[in-house]
Amino acid sequence: MNTRKTLRINEQGHLEIGGADAVSLAKSFGTPLYVMDEQYIRDMCSVYRDAIEKEYGGNGLVLYASKAFSCLAVYKIADSENIGVDAVSAGELYTAFRAGFPAEKIYLHGNNKLPYELELALDHGVGAIVVDAYSELDMIDEMCARRGMVQKVLLRVNPGVEAHTHRFIQTAKTDSKFGFSVSDKTAEKITEYALTKKHIRLAGYHCHIGSQIFEKQSFLLAVDKMMAFIADIKAKHGFEAEILNLGGGYGIWYTDEDAKYTCADYAEYLKAIVRELKAKSAEYGVRSPFLVVEPGRSIVGEAGVTLYTVGAIKEIPGIKKYVAVDGGMFDNPRYALYQAKYTAILANRAAEAPTEVVSVAGKCCESGDLVCADVSLPKAERGDILAVLSTGAYNYSMASNYNRNFIPPVVLVRDGKAEYIVKPQTYEDLVRNDVIPERLK
Ligand code: LLP
Repeated sequence: MNTRKTLRINEQGHLEIGGADAVSLAKSFGTPLYVMDEQYIRDMCSVYRDAIEKEYGGNGLVLYASKAFSCLAVYKIADSENIGVDAVSAGELYTAFRAGFPAEKIYLHGNNKLPYELELALDHGVGAIVVDAYSELDMIDEMCARRGMVQKVLLRVNPGVEAHTHRFIQTAKTDSKFGFSVSDKTAEKITEYALTKKHIRLAGYHCHIGSQIFEKQSFLLAVDKMMAFIADIKAKHGFEAEILNLGGGYGIWYTDEDAKYTCADYAEYLKAIVRELKAKSAEYGVRSPFLVVEPGRSIVGEAGVTLYTVGAIKEIPGIKKYVAVDGGMFDNPRYALYQAKYTAILANRAAEAPTEVVSVAGKCCESGDLVCADVSLPKAERGDILAVLSTGAYNYSMASNYNRNFIPPVVLVRDGKAEYIVKPQTYEDLVRNDVIPERLK
């Protein structure tokens, strides 16, 4: 199973998540249900935080990339773990502020930040804005001039490292909507431009080479390219970056295909990154920058399990067996988007050996609506509780009300006890913003 002991099979042969029996959870809270193990999230925050402390004398900051899973409680957890967060929209900023998260530990990202998003960030005093466009520099400069303030910014740079992962989630190739390339000198040009702005303090650079990456070498290559770039800019323009933000992207366990990567020792990743950073700063004669990392998936992904109830079962002789559940692409669109792979188990019969390979179908009105394809299960029956593992990242955060299904609630489990951190939606929620114009009444 997954790497960090969130899951076990108990004496009744039921799946247990963070000490809570999945069958009891399904009974008490209903399905579909997202279950998150608080201890796992806390452990992962401390793995990254402690690694920076130990390997780099604390000269850095871990930001939880909250796009992976955003709700009030997760910002509370991140804050109590003494880490920062990466936010990518006014909505994520607002949620963090509502949770009382300290603004100075928030970095704002986005390739097309809207004026109201920048205003919100500036009004609350976010720690840094990671700039991704000339016009964004102009907007920030002008907004800061009006406020009589100076904003710390980083520039998003594309170091041209190709990470081996699904092509839709690679973000640092030269043809990318994100960042300015080192190779075509656009990163240098925007640096020159940023340095002319009176109300902007350029503090350094950011890059993010992709997501669900296991190859340590990709991260080390990014460090090398970024440090060479920093040295080049120092030599040509006398500007020496103080901060280097390397983004996130550390891979997690979804299936045993991922286990062959010995399932990520994240402290080891950071240790190697710091070693490379120090070596390159010595080699290129630049200071060792303040290191920022932005893991999202690896903090919350394996902390999460989604519970469903099995409904209709359809066997197409000689072709395939579909086991339909009460969820689907509205709670987890990752199969539809990326053909994502998952491990599923019958939570009420977790000790039984798998006997067949099936596709888990959702209940939405389209054929592409699968939760996962080709998973091994014991023979499933209507009423079984199906658990899909490693759904803590980019599931709830990408959920929708497609087909007017309810976005499932989220419970947080700690010491075997579960409580809502996102309540169930109601019919009223579905029509809350609908309006019938007078002439249609
Ligand atoms: N920093 C930046 C600037 C990013 O763009 C991302 C993810 C992260 C940090 C966090 O990366 P992580 O550690 O979570 O891999 N929806 C896709 C994933 C998109 C990731 C986008 N950026 C999925 O479901 O796989």
